[in-house]
Amino acid sequence: MIDQMYRKAVLTVAGQKAIENAVRARGWGMAQRFVAGETPQTAIQAVHDLKKDGIMANLDLLGEFIESPAQCTQFADNVITMLDAAHAAGITPYVSVKLSSVGQGKTVDGEDLGLTNARRIIRRAKEYGGFVCLDMEDHPRVDQTLAQFRTLVGEFGGQHVGTVLQSYLYRTEKDRGGLDDLSPNLRIVKGAYLEPETVAYPQKADVDAAYRRLVYAHMSAGNYVNVATHDESIIHDVQMYALAHGISKDAFEFQMLYGIRRDLQRNLAAAGYRVRAYIPYGRDWYPYFSRRIAETPRNAMFVLRGMLKG
Ligand code: FDA
Repeated sequence: MIDQMYRKAVLTVAGQKAIENAVRARGWGMAQRFVAGETPQTAIQAVHDLKKDGIMANLDLLGEFIESPAQCTQFADNVITMLDAAHAAGITPYVSVKLSSVGQGKTVDGEDLGLTNARRIIRRAKEYGGFVCLDMEDHPRVDQTLAQFRTLVGEFGGQHVGTVLQSYLYRTEKDRGGLDDLSPNLRIVKGAYLEPETVAYPQKADVDAAYRRLVYAHMSAGNYVNVATHDESIIHDVQMYALAHGISKDAFEFQMLYGIRRDLQRNLAAAGYRVRAYIPYGRDWYPYFSRRIAETPRNAMFVLRGMLKG
């Protein structure tokens, strides 16, 4: 409950234009803890650095609420530029994309622009043997995202495209079961948006319990699971579940955000688990940064200390 109140308060304050302007003016130094620079080159450097610790990477070009169809297509072009840059640097690209940023919900030439642009991105990633994960956004987008995911798996194959399910939504366990025929590569998260009680569990204990059920069900169905959480107790339980059920360490991976619980990321990799860090980069870092602050007061303290230092 307190978690929910804290998150709501931070996201409400962060949404104020004056706060955004102040943080944008002074906050980049602090955002660098969570964002790997503004260009593909800085993000690629972060990939190389993580590799030294045995940690894989998921590149994410930041950009939300991009408005015009032309901007969406430009954004998709920028993602493709990043795929090219990663390939040229000897990296098999693994990227995440928010369908809203490439035009989901906008019809151009009789087709959803998000789907058109996602196709272009996945086609290029596939050429390089890479992978594209369709991030999950707020609840009104879930139906369309899952439908587009199904279409894209049909066109490109499940080895090149995955998506995300959020345990805070009541509907998610049913959604997961409904995707089993695709043997999908799914990332399971708790969920980062401010959702009403009509669609999402308000209590953290329920979100956590649903999280475990989702991961176990997806593993037991023989699917690859991306266990995306920093929650040590869940990580421990997933390790125990895998051991108890003879699920190999290659059948799942732990995913965490860049700059968060770096100790845990390194320890898991050293213990032979597959670990991937989600590396955001780009100029539009403010909304992403606000959500990280909203996740835990510890991050707010980190930023406040930085600001006080000037
Ligand atoms: P929870 O918030 O319960 O935290 C568990 C513990 O982890 C905390 O006690 C704290 O110690 C630590 N912790 C958590 N967040 C921290 C932070 N920011 N800084 C420091 N410590 C922290 N969401 C979504 O809606 N759609 C999506 O597509 C994605 N994609 C995604 C990819 C990846 C790789 C990750 C890791 C997460 C996402 N998310 C997401 C975000 C996700 O929904 C969720 O908001 C965060 O992961 C935080 O929840 P935890 O599972 O870490 O647990």
